[in-house]
Amino acid sequence: MSYIQIANEKLEQLKDRDDIVILAIESSCDETACAIMKGKELLANVVASQIDIHRRFGGVVPEIASRNHTLAIENVVKEALAKAQMTLDDIQVIGVTYGAGLLGALLIGVSFAKSLAYSLQKPLIAVNHIKGHIAANYIACPDLKPPYICLIASGGHTAICKVQDLNEIEIIGCTVDDACGEAFDKVARCLGLPYPGGVEIEKLALSGNCNIEMPLPFKGEDHFNFSYSGLKTAVINYIHNKEQKGEQYNKADVAASFQSRAIGMLVDNTIRAALKYGYKTIVIAGGVGANKLLRAKMSEQGQKHNINVIYPPLNLCTDNAAMIASETRILIKSGAKCADIDLDGSANVRIFD
Ligand code: KG4
Ligand code: ZN
Repeated sequence: MSYIQIANEKLEQLKDRDDIVILAIESSCDETACAIMKGKELLANVVASQIDIHRRFGGVVPEIASRNHTLAIENVVKEALAKAQMTLDDIQVIGVTYGAGLLGALLIGVSFAKSLAYSLQKPLIAVNHIKGHIAANYIACPDLKPPYICLIASGGHTAICKVQDLNEIEIIGCTVDDACGEAFDKVARCLGLPYPGGVEIEKLALSGNCNIEMPLPFKGEDHFNFSYSGLKTAVINYIHNKEQKGEQYNKADVAASFQSRAIGMLVDNTIRAALKYGYKTIVIAGGVGANKLLRAKMSEQGQKHNINVIYPPLNLCTDNAAMIASETRILIKSGAKCADIDLDGSANVRIFD
């Protein structure tokens, strides 16, 4: 029997069990991560962040990210096994992010996961990173069940989806240009703040006032798309204008005004979508989901309209492997087939396929 036949047969036997042991790997950007789950219980969640390495360049340098994944991955997996008090023999299924992300970075995780799966003759599941972000919510909230409206807001994606069933997801709005997190990062850079910019803008905004006018794209339009490019450019123009004229400006006010508009757009579209389609639950996914203003405003609006709002814990908003383990479990339960050893990384997978 070939590897893939053995793997699919093993997966078929495991599928209906509630205690499947999954080891998941994530390496799509600048975090090398490994997590272990047994059933719905998270036993280990190790994240080796490269933020300090990339900070001096003002953003992620893909080649440096790949090299550092290579250096970190073995130890990250060993540390996760030690934390879960397990050995590779205890692992039943391996999950790995195959896209979207930086191709070189993805390939490190994919190659490592394929080697593990093949040498152990165990099933391998290929996971879409964005679906992983959504699945992070099932870890802290195991009773969460579709249908719900999901807001995805990360460094690479911004979208609103109807989640009808665990594996039935329909996009009803998305950004037509920049992602929300990308706009946070670019504005932060222009303000001289370190990478990654989202959390830095959030900190600076605490001491600022929303007194600078910001553009509002698609005002009054009846759809759920986003645009962040005009907002980002307006902020950058404001800063350059002041600098050229030698005028003083308050960076905290810029941060607060930008954040208020950027987050306001997310909240407005998500609440309108839930109201339009009559959904009673909103689920937040992705790095921007860690933003406290987003969490406060979304909960406030949710309460006002009698909609329940669910967020992942802060450490599961940004990239991690626990969310990949959670999505691996969902895929197994939904009858997914194993990936073969020709699995490749893919920089540009669609949000859902
Ligand atoms: O989901 P994520 O970790 O990676 C991608 O899949 O892209 O998201 C990273 C993005 C970055 O753009 C980062 O600046 C943003 O999420 N982010 C935040 C916050 N924490 C992370 N944006 C706003 N406020 C935050 N607290
Ligand atoms: Zn991500």
